[in-house]
Amino acid sequence: MKVCKAIVVLAIMSALMIPVSAMAKEYGTLKEVISAYDSSRCKQCHEQIYKDWEKAAHSMPLMGPFNKVLGTLQDYLKQRDPVKGEFKKSNEVTKSIKEYMMPCFVCHVPQLREMSEQAAQELADAVLKENYEVLDKLQINCIVCHNQVSIIRKYRDGNPEPDTVYGTKDLGGVHADTVFTKSKRHEMLEDSSFCGQCHQGPNVITSLVLPSSEPLWCVSNYDSWLQNYIPNGGDKSCQDCHMRAPNTGHRFPPNYQDHAFELDRLKNHIKFDVSAMAYTQQIKVPDLISTPMVVIKTKVWSENIGHRFTDGCPSTKHFLLKVKVTSKEGKELFNETKYYYPQKKRGDAENKVVFASLRKLTLMRDTALNPFKVNDETFEIKLPKDVEDATVEASLTLIMEPGVKEAVYELGKFSKFVSIKGRKQ
Ligand code: HEC
Ligand code: HEC
Ligand code: HEC
Ligand code: HEC
Ligand code: HEC
Repeated sequence: MKVCKAIVVLAIMSALMIPVSAMAKEYGTLKEVISAYDSSRCKQCHEQIYKDWEKAAHSMPLMGPFNKVLGTLQDYLKQRDPVKGEFKKSNEVTKSIKEYMMPCFVCHVPQLREMSEQAAQELADAVLKENYEVLDKLQINCIVCHNQVSIIRKYRDGNPEPDTVYGTKDLGGVHADTVFTKSKRHEMLEDSSFCGQCHQGPNVITSLVLPSSEPLWCVSNYDSWLQNYIPNGGDKSCQDCHMRAPNTGHRFPPNYQDHAFELDRLKNHIKFDVSAMAYTQQIKVPDLISTPMVVIKTKVWSENIGHRFTDGCPSTKHFLLKVKVTSKEGKELFNETKYYYPQKKRGDAENKVVFASLRKLTLMRDTALNPFKVNDETFEIKLPKDVEDATVEASLTLIMEPGVKEAVYELGKFSKFVSIKGRKQ
């Protein structure tokens, strides 16, 4: 029956002169999409890779670590409300829910590209109703990376073949799977631009070349790698650091939900250095001015991170640097907090940092840790007349999700007694 149908379709298409290749693959229902992308059988033969991948954020792209993602996707869908929605005009631009979802959902669920209008609507409903049974099955999985998005240069290399897994080794063209019975080496899997397909922003260009009419800025790992790391002498690819370094592979760290594992990684890659002293500064201008003070210097930098860090969307992920000075009697003399993160703004007259991918468009300021750069600060604190000794405390913390205890990583603490009279504690 299926064969007969296909022949009829082909006959109609040739009569209408529609080229077969121009017909994109399309699945009618969400169930069909999920079943076509079912990667569970890959586990039989690639067990370790599969287990690693289950720990990666790629296995939960609609929920995200600490469930950060789902609520924001719901927010995006709600903005289409024809009366109250920020994107109410989208109803004039397109009648299609799939087209509306594309600019926001496509990197998180690239399967959307092959969904019918009905399947896209089912996905939107599942997101709004938090139907985890469905959402858990829509992942950036083995088939997505080793087939759907493997080929970047399609004019040169063609579309991915429906029966082929693309990898980095030449296996003689064969592969033991029941559906993906062939294999092909494809060098772009080793290229950073493979990751850049999704780890890039803002996607301003979408309004020109993709069927989407709203630019969004979720992440910028690839942009930052390209502009900040490579030009300054960096020579590693995304795959080098995220897949080939020890304890990486298909886990694609960071794995923020594995607190002990991630804390260890962060401590290896984030450096924190503090010095503090107390003295009396004297200067003749022409009168003699004496100023007793505490001077604190802090340095924070990243080692072997090939892009700005933190990044992310929305950019509530940040470093917190706290510096405090207290007198011997316990009186607080100084207390300051610095935040390190990329600060993205709205892209309109309101010059305000925003925390949502659907609202931010340009970078206002970047205080995040950047490759080959040290974030250093000097704090000069004048001591009150009666104070000669003080305790300096400083700490560095990474906050992945504000308000969530397990999403906080203490990276360093410093404490020192200082005295303008050179006294020891
Ligand atoms: C098809 C799109 C896509 C491709 C291709 C892709 N990623 Fe991702 N990646 C994502 C999405 C979406 C997330 C976030 C998922 C989530 O929040 O759970 C993510 C998460 C990550 C994370 C974890 C980030 C975090 O904050 O927890 C790392 C690391 C990562 N990807 C690295 C890579 C590297 C390296 C490559 C290339 C070898 C790559 N990705 C290819 C879409 C993609
Ligand atoms: C160009 C691809 C792309 C688009 C478009 C995109 N995302 Fe993402 N998103 C990613 C990747 C990749 C990550 C994980 C990388 C990271 O943490 O740096 C991510 C992470 C997130 C996170 C976790 C944030 C964090 O800081 O850990 C949220 C929330 C999110 N996306 C929501 C959205 C929403 C909502 C939209 C649409 C309005 C959207 N994304 C559009 C690729 C994209
Ligand atoms: C986010 C994209 C992504 C996902 C998801 C992904 N892979 Fe990969 N995989 C890659 C890339 C990129 C490489 C090449 C790594 C390199 O160049 O070192 C690779 C390499 C491999 C290799 C060969 C290298 C090795 O370690 O033996 C196998 C086999 C493989 N993947 C299987 C799988 C299976 C099975 C899954 C599902 C559990 C999966 N991959 C999920 C991107 C992905
Ligand atoms: C019956 C066993 C079997 C199943 C099922 C299977 N594979 Fe494989 N696969 C292999 C073997 C064997 C190799 C070649 C040995 C190797 O390099 O790991 C291979 C190689 C690969 C490679 C190429 C790795 C490289 O080095 O370039 C990729 C990619 C891959 N498999 C992906 C998948 C995906 C995706 C699935 C699920 C849809 C899957 N495999 C299911 C047995 C299997
Ligand atoms: C020189 C090594 C290096 C290179 C190159 C590199 N990364 Fe990273 N990346 C890291 C380290 C280290 C971290 C810190 C977290 C961890 O690994 O646990 C990180 C963090 C990330 C995160 C999480 C960001 C966040 O704010 O939570 C993402 C996503 C990511 N990298 C993607 C990429 C992509 C995509 C590329 C290529 C364009 C890339 N990285 C290139 C080392 C590297």
